[in-house]
Amino acid sequence: MSSPPEITKAIFPVAGLGTRFLPATKAQPKEMLPVVDKPLIQYAVEEAYAAGIREMIFVTGRHKRPIEDHFDMAFELEHELELAGKHELLRTVQSIKPEDMECVFVRQPKSLGLGHAVLCGERLVRGEPFAVLLADDLMVGEPPVLAQMVEQYREWRGSILAVQEVPAEHTRRYGIVAGSPVSERVMAVNRIVEKPSPDQAPSLLGVAGRYILSPAVFEQIRRQPRGVGNEIQLTDGIAGLLKTEPVYAYRYVGKRHDCGSKEGFLEANVELALKHPQIGPGFSAYLRQLMQQTD
Ligand code: UTP
Repeated sequence: MSSPPEITKAIFPVAGLGTRFLPATKAQPKEMLPVVDKPLIQYAVEEAYAAGIREMIFVTGRHKRPIEDHFDMAFELEHELELAGKHELLRTVQSIKPEDMECVFVRQPKSLGLGHAVLCGERLVRGEPFAVLLADDLMVGEPPVLAQMVEQYREWRGSILAVQEVPAEHTRRYGIVAGSPVSERVMAVNRIVEKPSPDQAPSLLGVAGRYILSPAVFEQIRRQPRGVGNEIQLTDGIAGLLKTEPVYAYRYVGKRHDCGSKEGFLEANVELALKHPQIGPGFSAYLRQLMQQTD
């Protein structure tokens, strides 16, 4: 059997309003909020790169400048760092966009929902299977979660959704899937529902912000009426897709930090700061001291 097409493109929808993070997101995209020393979007782009993807497609809204600037060359800054002999910092800045990586920007004129944002990338995807990464879900995994999904895609040759078990009282925050197991971590999906109440949820497997999708999903998104929250939902497009093509749910190995919420964002900062090679030990000592004071 011939191998399935490679996944070479990723869509990063970054055009949401980020209302849960106001006022921080009034004049900058939520995806530029830093966890320790890197913006959320950089973690997601690095994850895509580690999965072999080289074409990054950003679906931006009205605050597009900071994201575009972050992945562009900063001539003055690089020149200054060079003059000052700060070579390690220079390498850090230059490594944000490796030479073999391409960044493309497309605008979502109105925040009409995640499905609509993905649809804005249709022309750039050029009929190939592609990845979608929501940068506000910061995924920590080894191998990185999207690389695990690409492996699964090669094996199962269908769309792959990253899923995790969620508490019953949280089903309203997720797309929830149901289906039949095909391996220890993979399930063939036969149902997906956006943000169901706990009594309507078909399972406790919630979709995290990582997808590998067949290009046939675009037509399905276009067919959907407005869904939950009067938005064009990606989940509804996937619900259409699974009637015509196989869709699999993969229970990834790793941890998701929901950085679209304040609590999740703070937890990610603490956990990643503790693991940081330079500041980790000092930060850990500080936290211990703080705990003693509050005991
Ligand atoms: P969210 O559901 O977290 O929405 O979007 P949001 O607007 O960003 O944040 P809140 O809920 O108001 O705080 C999930 C992802 O989809 C993108 C967001 O940028 C985020 O990465 N998105 C959402 C779009 O690109 N366009 C949209 O119309 C909606």
